[in-house]
Parts: sequence; structure tokens; C-alpha cells
Amino acid sequence: MLRLTSGHLTAQALRVFASLGLPDILREGPKSAADLALATKSDATTLFRTLRFLATIDIVKRDENGEFSLTRLGRTLCKRPNPVIHDNTLLACSALHWTAIGNLLHAVKTGENAFRAIHGKAYFESLGENPEEAGIFNAAMNSASQIGIGAILAAYDFSAFRSVVDVAGGEGALLRGILARHKHVRGILFDATDAIEQQVPDEMVADRLTTIRGDFFSCVPPGADAYLLRRILHNWNDQEAITILRQCRGAMPRSSKLLIIELAAPQPGDSGFDWAFLDMLMMLINGGRERSLHEFEQILEAAGFSCPRVILTRSPYWILESAPA
Ligand SMILES: C[S@@+](CC[C@H](N)C(=O)[O-])C[C@H]1O[C@@H](n2cnc3c(N)ncnc32)[C@H](O)[C@@H]1O
Repeated sequence: MLRLTSGHLTAQALRVFASLGLPDILREGPKSAADLALATKSDATTLFRTLRFLATIDIVKRDENGEFSLTRLGRTLCKRPNPVIHDNTLLACSALHWTAIGNLLHAVKTGENAFRAIHGKAYFESLGENPEEAGIFNAAMNSASQIGIGAILAAYDFSAFRSVVDVAGGEGALLRGILARHKHVRGILFDATDAIEQQVPDEMVADRLTTIRGDFFSCVPPGADAYLLRRILHNWNDQEAITILRQCRGAMPRSSKLLIIELAAPQPGDSGFDWAFLDMLMMLINGGRERSLHEFEQILEAAGFSCPRVILTRSPYWILESAPA
């Protein structure tokens, strides 16, 4: 039980370890706490005691000379070559997430959104005012955007479409993958972020990729054969998700397809930890939720869509294919 109740300390020790870049420094070989403190402009004693704690949870090892080295588990926090775990650790343990997670009791008692109850505004609004936190969020989203792309492309045949809109596509990693694989498809990358206008499309797909800036609560580009909503609906509560879906429905010809790509609800034999963990974060931070198939069916029906076909992929994501009802 102590291991579980000290989870807050574990999370912050891991945050320190990752944000000081210690995993990448230790990749080069064992180092003393004094050398690590020098390299990261930190306090040697406090860092030593934090590393000694991290050694008890198998992140580092301390050898007979008192030097620390990385364990196999600790190595997963290196930023290179793949930053996805590093960047998402920094987000999960970030200062803004920390405040909302600490407010779970209030959320359970009142049903209020934990983040808004503390900060008096929505998480995305706070990010707009806090460049450091926004940088952490964007890095985590961008590195996670590569996850599952190969599996999605393998599981679903996009060749039937001539045009695809990636609704709130961010940097458009999935859309670029579709265009690279299917040379006849044209793509529209639609997102609210300022960054959308600075996108530099890869040469291979440049002449087939258009970027449009806009707000999916008020419009979505019309007339395409397919509309992607990847990692979007889980950020929003049911009412907001239905509004986004209705905007898509209004933009879609009757023959076009809607493809929702989200973390698959737990399948038989799966503990469901990742799904339930993300569901808690969505609840506390944005007021969103992870959804079961039945919950997706309900919001799709409310927005005028057919019952979805479920396509499982060899990644944590599923694809729910639906069409205007
Ligand atoms: C979690 S990211 C997902 C990005 C992309 N679909 C992916 O899977 O990598 C959420 C995206 O929603 C965009 N977004 C948030 N509010 C929006 C709005 N009102 N209209 C359009 N895009 C919005 C954000 O800018 C961000 O790119």
C-alpha cells in the first residue's frame, strides 16, 4: 500500500529525472550524483537523495563506487531516439496536470471538472497563457501522434477515397501517411492552432495537402469522401462531442465516411489500465472521457450517424467507421 500511496512522489521523481535530461546523460555511462548535478546545474545533495529513491523503484542502479547507471526501465525515459515516453511523462507529471489530479476528491464530491474548479478556466485556455506548459503539451502530442499510424494504415483501406479531411489533425501525421501511401488521395488538414498555417508539407505530398484553420464547433470543410477524428472526441464531454460530430455530419455528403480513431475500450483479457488511466486524465483535465462502444453508438446516433463498424488494429487504437444515417 505504501508503494501505491507514494505514487505522487514517484511521479515527481520521474518528472525531475526526465526534465533534467538525466536519462540521456546516463546513457553515456555511470555517473556520480555530483557530476550529474554539475551537468544539470542542480543541487548535488537533493539530487543524490532523489536518485537513491529512484534506485528503489528500478529506474537507476547504484554501483559500489556510488555511481548511478540506467536500468532497462530507466532507459525508456531517454528522449533519443524516440521521445514519446519522455515527452508524455513530462506531460502526465506537469504542473498543470498536478493541480487537477490533486483535486480528484473535490471532483468526485461535486462532479465538477477538477481543472476548472481550481483555475477558473479550461485547460486549453490556460495553455494559451502558459508557453512553457503549452510546449510540454505540444511535444507530448506530436511525439504520440506517430503511435499506431502503421497499424491504422494496415487495418483500413483508404484507397477508396479521393479526398480526406483530417479534423483537428494537429500536424497531420496520419493524413500524411495516407497521402504518401495512396497517390490519388487529396488531403485537407483542418485545425484551430496557429501552427496550421506554418505547416511545411513533405515534398512527396505537398501538391495534394491543403491546410485550413478553423474551429470545429462552428464549421468543418465540406464535400470530402472521408472525415478523420483521431484522438479528438475523448477530449470533450458528450454534449461537446455531439456538436463536433454534427458539424462533421453537416459537412459530409451522404456517401462519405466518418472514421473515429481512439484508444480501444478494454478487450477480453486486457486489464484496461491504460484506458482507465487516460479516462481519469480526460475527466480531471478537460472534462472529456474515454468511451465504450455503446457510448460511441449513443453520441453517433444523437448526431445523425449510423451504428459504427468496429475495426481493431494491432495498436492500442480502434477505428469506428460510420456514415450519415
Ligand atoms: C490531441 S490533439 C490530436 C491531433 C491529431 N488528431 C492527432 O491524432 O495527432 C487535439 C487537436 O485538436 C485541436 N483542436 C482543439 N480545439 C479545436 C477546435 N475548437 N477546432 C479545431 N481544432 C481544435 C488542437 O489544436 C489539437 O491539434
